[in-house]
Amino acid sequence: MTGPPRVTKAVIPAAGLGTRFLPATKASPKEMLPVVDQPAIQYVVEEAVRAGLDDVLMITGRNKRPLEDHFDRVVELEHQLEAKGDAAKLALVQEASELATIHYVRQGDPKGLGHAVLAAAQHVGQEPFAVLLGDDLIDARDPLLELMIEVQAREGGSVVALMEVPHEAISLYGCAAVEAVDGGAGGDVVRITGLVEKPPVDEAPSDLAVIGRYVLSPTVFDVLRTTPPGRGGEIQLTDAIETLIATEPVHGVVFRGRRYDTGDRLDYLKAVVQLAADREDLGPPLVAWLSEWLAARA
Ligand code: UTP
Repeated sequence: MTGPPRVTKAVIPAAGLGTRFLPATKASPKEMLPVVDQPAIQYVVEEAVRAGLDDVLMITGRNKRPLEDHFDRVVELEHQLEAKGDAAKLALVQEASELATIHYVRQGDPKGLGHAVLAAAQHVGQEPFAVLLGDDLIDARDPLLELMIEVQAREGGSVVALMEVPHEAISLYGCAAVEAVDGGAGGDVVRITGLVEKPPVDEAPSDLAVIGRYVLSPTVFDVLRTTPPGRGGEIQLTDAIETLIATEPVHGVVFRGRRYDTGDRLDYLKAVVQLAADREDLGPPLVAWLSEWLAARA
């Protein structure tokens, strides 16, 4: 007996303009900003691979070169490191090019996240697939995507990652109206009954914000083809998923772990400090210096 199609493909949109991080993102994608010593996008690809998705489609735009180069081999550099006998650095350089099979498609005009996801239609075909936003980091110690894939396999339809945010911050996100489901893993799995992109605080149906992980039914492509531009004149993925609710189950997985929006300057700085502080090589001297520095400022 063959079951429903398994999720095997990850789509990583990385074609946005990154205006919140200008001028750093003027000539290179925000997804290439280093978080400690690795570009943000590599954490995202690693997360997809950990969840068993090693067919990755990256949606890129005008600045795609650095993204492609990062996941490609740099033979001269490998030779040089080999000649020097620097096995550790050689492994670091090779890691990114051996992670997954990465395909690329260009979005052309960045008309919004929904438009970027639609660019994946041909590659994805008729299977459910994951979407991981290229600037949104989920801490490797806090599993999320694996759980979302499990929920999709059980319930069908689509699954969206949600996170509780302070009430006054909800207007920065897509917001979900939800109801409980039986056996919903202690409230962490909910049914989504409505979605609205960046609602005014007093109109938000909950404090549950949509964050950058989705497992979507391929039906979303048909919906996206006819989704008109929404908030900000962009074709919104949130609007397409809201349409799906009428015909298919849409569930939410409420994430309570560590997440960093590296497209936001303050969140980016927090990500660098937190991830470096937890590293064996950099953590102890960084934390010692930070404590001294903060004490001196007090
Ligand atoms: P954002 O909402 O952060 O938008 O995109 P943005 O345009 O990249 O950044 P700001 O707000 O101007 O600073 C979320 C994700 O969707 C991708 C982005 O690359 C990012 O990974 N995206 C967004 C696209 O691929 N195409 C788009 O048209 C818009």
